[in-house]
Amino acid sequence: MTSILFIYHLLLAIVSSQSPCDELSLVDRAEWGAQEPIKINNITSKPLSFIVMHHSYSPSSCYDDDSCIERVKDIQSFHQTSQGWDDIGFHFLVGENGKVYEGRGWNRQAAHSTGWNNGAYGVCIIGDFTNASPNEKALNAVRLWIDCGITLGYVKEDHYIITHRQSQRPHYTDCPGDNMFGIVRSWPRYCSFQNSGASLNANKPQIALALEFCEKQLSPLSSASTNLATSLIMFYLLLIHSL
Ligand SMILES: *[C@@H]1O[C@H](CO)[C@@H](O)[C@H](O)[C@H]1NC(C)=O
Repeated sequence: MTSILFIYHLLLAIVSSQSPCDELSLVDRAEWGAQEPIKINNITSKPLSFIVMHHSYSPSSCYDDDSCIERVKDIQSFHQTSQGWDDIGFHFLVGENGKVYEGRGWNRQAAHSTGWNNGAYGVCIIGDFTNASPNEKALNAVRLWIDCGITLGYVKEDHYIITHRQSQRPHYTDCPGDNMFGIVRSWPRYCSFQNSGASLNANKPQIALALEFCEKQLSPLSSASTNLATSLIMFYLLLIHSL
């Protein structure tokens, strides 16, 4: 099995010699002109198992670099000034220009979903996706960001993707909008966990409950990639045989 995996990774390396991080258009804090955080708390244990998807609702979608930077700055200003948070609430933000903006980044605790800020990366696609869909550029940027996070060791390969509304009691928020919720639900690592709203004792935080639920719902990726490797090898053997 080890040798099959080795050949699989070799094939993968040949097919895609680029790291997903190279393909990702990441705009760091300095590049978009972020304000300094008021305070920093680091994430205490990486890699993380969860990604929580959000929409901004307001401000609206942006399709070019100038307006996306303007939106990200507005969001940070709103979070720091009106909400009184230490920094922009999200770990990363995504524009429909296909770029990913560093919010609190890979290492810092955020303020995107109560109870999840030290154990889940919060990613916000800029726009109101109640009725509209995020475009392919934005969705592809999210995919690349996840793959890059796995490559860098910040996101577990066996990670789970939920949405803001699932992380809180039912009807607490509509985020990320019905339309975007429908899209995220079709993603292979989507987990249908829903915070029931029941108060839990301190030993059983929401995120631990979610982990138990999602581990049962989704099989580990490692076995999926082994299956993929096996079919790839079979395909190659067939190909060689038929030549
Ligand atoms: C947080 O992590 C950074 C490195 O990412 C480190 O430089 C800094 O000292 C840490 N801060 C605290 C308060 O632990």
